[in-house]
Amino acid sequence: MLNNQIINWYCENKRDLPWRKTKDPYLIWISEIMLQQTRVATAIDYYYKFTERFPTVSDLAQADEQEVLNLWQGLGYYSRARNLHHAAKTIDTLYKGVFPNTYKEILNLKGIGAYTAAAISSFAFNLPYAAIDGNVYRVLSRLFGIDTPIDSTEGKKIFQELAQETMGNATPEIYNQAIIEFGALQCTPKSPNCSICPVNSSCFASNSNIVDQFPKKSKQIKPK
Ligand code: ADE
Repeated sequence: MLNNQIINWYCENKRDLPWRKTKDPYLIWISEIMLQQTRVATAIDYYYKFTERFPTVSDLAQADEQEVLNLWQGLGYYSRARNLHHAAKTIDTLYKGVFPNTYKEILNLKGIGAYTAAAISSFAFNLPYAAIDGNVYRVLSRLFGIDTPIDSTEGKKIFQELAQETMGNATPEIYNQAIIEFGALQCTPKSPNCSICPVNSSCFASNSNIVDQFPKKSKQIKPK
């Protein structure tokens, strides 16, 4: 089974990352928002600084917005920090400081989309929601040779179903971390080393020698 092969690969190759050592939905949320537009190596320092200053969702809710933005300095995309602050206040008042534990409630929070809601739901609560980020789109499109653009409504639906199916009855938390990490380290955007890939023999793109053609986008940016 594909999910098992990817999970086995993960157990042997995963990086030691701080947000993987916690089940606290608040801490996982902070890490996922930081990782949206920031590399892992950069995010780690910010993650430590931010969560030391605001160890709980209520600490963040009660903070001055300017202080939140100051801690975000250098990460860019400041709407992420404003949305974090806004959602923290919602959790503090509406949920009395207790992070909601259903996908729907999490998705309703400001600045949280389908990916982040699935990531928090699975990592913190082990709920069976496939989290599909750029890494996962790349892995699945190559493995299964999916031509449908990932930035189309139809594509989003196809990949959602495929990711959910590929998860099967694997442990959601581990499966999601595993496929994200597999995309980040093994099934890389440029020149992946397919000769050492554990799912190489069942990969459509690798077998057809066209890994660089996936994932497809409807607004394909011309390569330099
Ligand atoms: N990118 C987004 N989420 C991640 C995670 N949990 N671990 C590593 N990279 C990620």
